[in-house]
Amino acid sequence: MNSPVMQGLNLNTPAWVRNAKLVAWVADMVALCKPAAVYWCDGSQEEYDRLCQRLVDAGTFKRLNPAKRANSYLAWSDPSDVARVEDRTYICCERKEDAGPTNNWMAPAEMRATLNPLFDGCMRGRTMYVVPFSMGPLGSPIAHVGVELSDSPYVAVNMRIMTRMGKAVYDVLGVDGDYVPCVHTVGAPLEPGQQDSSWPCNKTKYIVHYPETREIWSYGSGYGGNALLGKKCFALRIASKMGRDQGWLAEHMLILGVTNPQGKKYHVAAAFPSACGKTNFAMLIPPKGFEGWKVTTIGDDIAWIKPAADGRLYAINPEAGYFGVAPGTNTKTNPNCMASLQRDVIFTNVALTDDGDVWWEGMDGDAPAHAIDWQGKDWTPQIARETGAKAAHPNARFTVAATNNPALDPEWDNPAGVAIDAFIFGGRRSTTVPLVTEAHDWVEGVYMAATMGSETTAAAFGQQGVVRRDPFAMLPFAGYNMAEYFQHWLDLGRKLQASGAKLPKIYTTNWFRKGEDGKFVWPGYGENMRVLKWMLDRIEGKVQGETHVFGVSPSYQELEWEGLPFTQEQFRQVTGIDLPAWQQELQLHHELFQQLEHKLPQELKDTKARIEQRLAA
Ligand code: GTP
Ligand code: SPV
Ligand code: MN
Repeated sequence: MNSPVMQGLNLNTPAWVRNAKLVAWVADMVALCKPAAVYWCDGSQEEYDRLCQRLVDAGTFKRLNPAKRANSYLAWSDPSDVARVEDRTYICCERKEDAGPTNNWMAPAEMRATLNPLFDGCMRGRTMYVVPFSMGPLGSPIAHVGVELSDSPYVAVNMRIMTRMGKAVYDVLGVDGDYVPCVHTVGAPLEPGQQDSSWPCNKTKYIVHYPETREIWSYGSGYGGNALLGKKCFALRIASKMGRDQGWLAEHMLILGVTNPQGKKYHVAAAFPSACGKTNFAMLIPPKGFEGWKVTTIGDDIAWIKPAADGRLYAINPEAGYFGVAPGTNTKTNPNCMASLQRDVIFTNVALTDDGDVWWEGMDGDAPAHAIDWQGKDWTPQIARETGAKAAHPNARFTVAATNNPALDPEWDNPAGVAIDAFIFGGRRSTTVPLVTEAHDWVEGVYMAATMGSETTAAAFGQQGVVRRDPFAMLPFAGYNMAEYFQHWLDLGRKLQASGAKLPKIYTTNWFRKGEDGKFVWPGYGENMRVLKWMLDRIEGKVQGETHVFGVSPSYQELEWEGLPFTQEQFRQVTGIDLPAWQQELQLHHELFQQLEHKLPQELKDTKARIEQRLAA
């Protein structure tokens, strides 16, 4: 009876769970989902190891060669379940206009009626894992608790890395504390005696949010943001709505610390769309020419940002781990990341080498002569040349604890957060958008972020490389009307300004302009430090920049070039402003504004008119 595992409808709730509402909810969900067993996760290392072994036994995990990659595993997903499914993601509030035109909407009652039959018996033959987690440091006034019920042990072990997961969360919850209920199923009940697949999932998928009652229901997928519900579902979609109601921000942003040779430290938060460089920028190692500079990571994907009594904005990383893109990661592009991945990693959809290690496109050195690709097939460089087969899926990922990162900022776990000096918004654009621009003021910065475009990536299911508007890198993640989200940013800026505070500067960046040869002109990665330093120089008033229609950009001389051969002509290629291209770009801003017309802030319309005038002049 001491075992937290039980059969049938006896929940066998452990003594450390004393929250009556939680126990009643679990009982309801057990009655609905009808799992064969309930397991209450305690978050211990022993439990993690045991569940990983269970995943090995089930064929979901392969244990990697411990001499190569200690305490690490590889999972291959179903080939149909490899990324977020934005067209299956719903914001279900009472009124359609509160979800806004950029979200899929369904009325809560209708969605509940749709989901109920799907969830009825959905966990048959499986164990329901009760996964308690805190987004943000345990007990911090900024943190919030969630509980995910999932029939996927893969989810349970990933949640232990990605969040503060375990028994201690119940101490925070106490007898009557509140939590965001998250229900997740792979949607693949097992008949008695039925052989399980190594990656159960369902071709029907629903990723559902009820922002008004703060609930998350996820059906049919085991992958990343579809299934690890603390991440995009809670920390962005639900939290953005909480932030609007309570006067704070939940953003798709990395947070980094940057310390200059004099020891002065700044904090920067940067929003780039999925697979557009957040993890890389957050772990940046300053290049040659930047001796004495240091960059440290606070977060790589999500920031919760709150105004404090001193009029400044303080940011915390609600997560505790990184669910990062593997392809393209190597010891040149991101040495800190490669060091983080030495041990204690869960890899998903990368290739398995013959010596029991992992490989992906863009890793160091030569490709292996032979490997098993993410779909379990033989892979050789020749097969790749002939068929185009990728060893790793382009959205292959690693899950690793933040504490594995050698560049982890000492403040990363500080419940008070760090004061933000600058915001960056950066898209992936092969043309048009210059390397870096400083907005004239907060309102123009909000305009630039709101109208940002980016080429779609493998992080979401669908066509890749198409330019779409991705306001604030939040298009797939805003839990309410995007136009009201713009208003929230404007209101917050106005409020801070009225208090006499100095607002963070707002920049846009684009690391991804391509030359006529189709190659990136800007070297990117560590070299982005040159741009970051220019921003800090602007904050200190050390450089003037050159003013143009959209804001202020650096002159060639203002960037530090020591250690990087980069000609004035190359600089022109990444900073030049092509007026006809921008006229077309403004047309796309126009289309976005038409789509959002109903609640679009007048200030943004006025800003657009002003920029159009400058362009015409
Ligand atoms: P999500 O986890 O999906 O939110 O992605 P992210 O924004 O953290 O992106 P990440 O840093 O993982 O980078 C995604 C891809 O872009 C990887 O293949 C990187 O190698 C590549 N990348 C990152 N930074 C740069 C850069 O400065 N220049 C170029 N050319 N590529 C980059
Ligand atoms: C993203 O797509 O922005 C990610 C990966 O960070 S996922 O967790 O799948 O959302
Ligand atoms: Mn992301």
